[in-house]
Amino acid sequence: MRITGTGHASMRIDTSAGSILCDPWVNPAYFASWFPFPDNSLLDWETLGDVDYLYVSHLHRDHFDAAHLSRFVSKKATVLLPEYPTSQLEDELRELGFTKFLKTRSNEVHELDGGLKIMIQALISPTDGPIGDSSLWVEHEGVRLLNQNDARPTDLTTFAELGHVHGHMLQFSGAIWYPMVYELPESAKTAFGKQKRDRQFDRTWRYIDDLKADHVFPIAGPPCFLDDDLWKFNDIFGDEGNIFPDQSVFMREYAAVGGNNGIVLLPGSITELSESGATTTHPVDVDEFFANKMQHLEEMRSRKAPIIAAEKASWRHPEIDVLGELKKRIEPLLEESIYMAQGVGGPVRFDFTDTDGPTGNIIESIVVDFPGKQVRPYADEKVRYRFKTGRALVEHLIHLDEGDWVNSLFLSCRFSAARIGQYNEFVYAFFKCLSEERLQYAEGWYDEHEKAVEAEDTHLGDWTVQRRCPHLKADLSRFGIVEGNTLTCQLHGWKFDLPSGRCLTSVGHKIRAEKTNP
Ligand code: FES
Repeated sequence: MRITGTGHASMRIDTSAGSILCDPWVNPAYFASWFPFPDNSLLDWETLGDVDYLYVSHLHRDHFDAAHLSRFVSKKATVLLPEYPTSQLEDELRELGFTKFLKTRSNEVHELDGGLKIMIQALISPTDGPIGDSSLWVEHEGVRLLNQNDARPTDLTTFAELGHVHGHMLQFSGAIWYPMVYELPESAKTAFGKQKRDRQFDRTWRYIDDLKADHVFPIAGPPCFLDDDLWKFNDIFGDEGNIFPDQSVFMREYAAVGGNNGIVLLPGSITELSESGATTTHPVDVDEFFANKMQHLEEMRSRKAPIIAAEKASWRHPEIDVLGELKKRIEPLLEESIYMAQGVGGPVRFDFTDTDGPTGNIIESIVVDFPGKQVRPYADEKVRYRFKTGRALVEHLIHLDEGDWVNSLFLSCRFSAARIGQYNEFVYAFFKCLSEERLQYAEGWYDEHEKAVEAEDTHLGDWTVQRRCPHLKADLSRFGIVEGNTLTCQLHGWKFDLPSGRCLTSVGHKIRAEKTNP
């Protein structure tokens, strides 16, 4: 089995029974904030895109690059489609001209021509990607590979049960706006960022240990940030609170915990993977490449500046009545939302500035009032969350009729945020569900989830606790760690106060716990 690195989460898998291109991403995503690093735009995409199968793991724009798919990927390719609750991924691919779809069933092995076997595990909670994230398992002639991508299954048992895996590709770096955009003192941001960076690595080690594959490939990030406003997010300043460590840092940290089977794929690197081993060739020396990261980034920054400028020029639509349009789009959804509206539980304020981000003068302030089911002007009130961003960005979201503000505005990091109290997952869940189909799905999911009886227990230290994490059902007998009276679930790092059962990380999500020997 041959694996060609094509940048970020993308790779091409070649076997004698056919080829699969995964998640090709080249054009900047999220308001021109994220670019793939190292630059993969000079690869021979005409050839790479001439494939038998296409796998797009999910709709996040660093995995689903519509312009690139449209221009470079053969429309003769059969799409290996994850089993998602909404048809949006299929619809968008059809719009780009793809007509052949293999609609997989989650966790079921499908045998394709020539003995090529694949399985896609689809994760479908409202917090998984843009309502859906997935991993691809491939087997051919006894060689097995898991492209876990940036998906976070509770464990990897389903894949491990299919036989020993030879190549395991997974995410290790950050892909979120926390804590950088929060209006916090720098020292607090560094402390939170460091915690997050450590947790990302811990989670990665846990997955690696779960699967025990022969070779581990760090993929799916980090992106690079080439706009002057976002340049500070690149991990080139020795900041221990930076959540975007690169592949060379992964190799160092992995070695420190005893890992010696890591393989970095640069765009153009080729690994020949077999049952007995792996040989890899690179287009340039990997260590040297990362040693000169700053220089590579500076060069990319100059090369891509015209692209960023052109994108920025397309955002402004001052004729749009932002308040009126948001009222029209959001109020019917507020009306229908039960769980998410209750979960947010208060007004959320948006301050719009006259720039392309959170700096500049505030020219309009509005409130999405979840209890009042209204979008209205801000009335000098206390709010639970406050976001500050350029009015132009929201104008553009309205212009595009964007139904997922996480997969556009929030991932752009072109905003700042402040909140009172804990993280509230419902705020972000709601703003990724600004369409009838998504809202209905998410509300239904929460409805089932809330009613689910968590009957099974596990024992951790002196405590008997419900076996499944109240967040996304991670098995706490594997992911739970108790220190004093606090339980931490290592899958996403959520903390619970055991005596009261209260979730310390987010609103709601109480855990059932009892002291075993009081
Ligand atoms: S499943 Fe997310 S913190 Fe436990």
